[in-house]
Amino acid sequence: MRFDRRLPIPPLIDAGKRGNAIELQVASGKHAFVGGKPTRIYGYAGQIPGPVLRLRRGDEFEVTVENKLDIDTTVHWHGLLVSGDVEGGPHQIIKSGGSWRPRLRVDQPASTLWFHPHLHHDTARQIYMGLSGLIIVDDGSDTKLGLPHAYGIDDLPIVLQDRSFGPDGSLLYDLDPLTIQYGLRGNTIIANGVVGPFARVPGGLVRLRILNAANAQNFDLRFSDKRKFYVVASDAGFVSAPVAMQQLRISPAERFEILVDFSNGRPVMLETGPDRVMGIFGAVSEDDSAGFVPIMRFEPTATAGAAKEIPVSLVAPAAADANRAVRRREFLLDSGFCGGQRPTETGLLPGMCINGKTHDMARIDVETALGTTEVWKIVSRGMAHPFHLHGASFRVLSLSGAPPPAHLAGWKDVVLVEDEAELLVKFSRPATPEHPFMYHCHILEHEDAGMMGQYVCT
Ligand code: C2O
Ligand code: CU
Ligand code: CU
Repeated sequence: MRFDRRLPIPPLIDAGKRGNAIELQVASGKHAFVGGKPTRIYGYAGQIPGPVLRLRRGDEFEVTVENKLDIDTTVHWHGLLVSGDVEGGPHQIIKSGGSWRPRLRVDQPASTLWFHPHLHHDTARQIYMGLSGLIIVDDGSDTKLGLPHAYGIDDLPIVLQDRSFGPDGSLLYDLDPLTIQYGLRGNTIIANGVVGPFARVPGGLVRLRILNAANAQNFDLRFSDKRKFYVVASDAGFVSAPVAMQQLRISPAERFEILVDFSNGRPVMLETGPDRVMGIFGAVSEDDSAGFVPIMRFEPTATAGAAKEIPVSLVAPAAADANRAVRRREFLLDSGFCGGQRPTETGLLPGMCINGKTHDMARIDVETALGTTEVWKIVSRGMAHPFHLHGASFRVLSLSGAPPPAHLAGWKDVVLVEDEAELLVKFSRPATPEHPFMYHCHILEHEDAGMMGQYVCT
């Protein structure tokens, strides 16, 4: 790999500067993942990467989404705490040629969220084809905490995905039962939509907002010189203090914000190791060092960044008090095929389940009460599953029976469950039976196969 393409920085749509009325087109377009080989893609604004939406806490904004594709889609605001009727799940279909205009109130702490399609049975392919974008919720704390926040300069969005390409640079996506079981994994990693990019960064502290938007792959990130970096936020907000790490696993749909110090001026690679907890990819290499592959290169410039020091503390979340939970529930995510078979253009595809049931758009699985908290125990069978739910954030109480590591102790909306996890879920937004919230595995092939349930909150 040559690392000679500049990392694309997605256009920033600052809702507040546009009167809180924004437009988003879902369209097909052309994009070169591999240099010099443009190919057909789907994209927000017809482009990869999709735009980044910056939203201010306390604002209400209106999005006009136009579906220019020749297929139906939805736009789900992953992690945005809004009610079930506007969150863009599988019930809010935007027909081909149609439009959708939700009004969304932003009321949650500063965080990095994202948006993507959620059409049942076709989510995986639509995201693979290029539909995803980031959301930055801004609550004014960046300045207070002294965190880098100059978008595209010392505050960079990094969207990681894996893809497989044909010789002409086209996207390969084929589903068969085995691919459904392990989730679709590509042989090439892309960052912000391109293979092997480089980024020029100030020779100082830089904030990276990393999203794993892969269909199934866990990335195990580190820098080639094994330098320390600092996790400052997970999915739904800041952690209480920066967590020094040398290696960080990020699962599908998870986000981490990290601070990296480039003041020694030396170029460095961001690398990923083999996926040890899922599927055949993890069996490829036993020797860690041999298994790491470079994703992108950072080249510090002589200019120092604005932020000088790693903050000592950030925003401490309230204690996760499981005693206040009004009930306990258990969910078994099963990699086996227990959900019957579904006819598709390419033949019969097997179904997957939660608690023995495959997804049914007409069935409500769980009823919750607005303003309460519950303990959800998630059990993975067969392989590790990244569990996500809509309309709520949670705290991880335990992972495989042990307290979570510091970087997973803040507010989250996705967690990789290797064997079992206990979550303290706070239900703060309403959802009716007509527009229920989803909970599901974020391996997209599992979700499409039916490893998903629905809950209401009243
Ligand atoms: Cu990324 Cu159901 O969501
Ligand atoms: Cu979601
Ligand atoms: Cu799964």
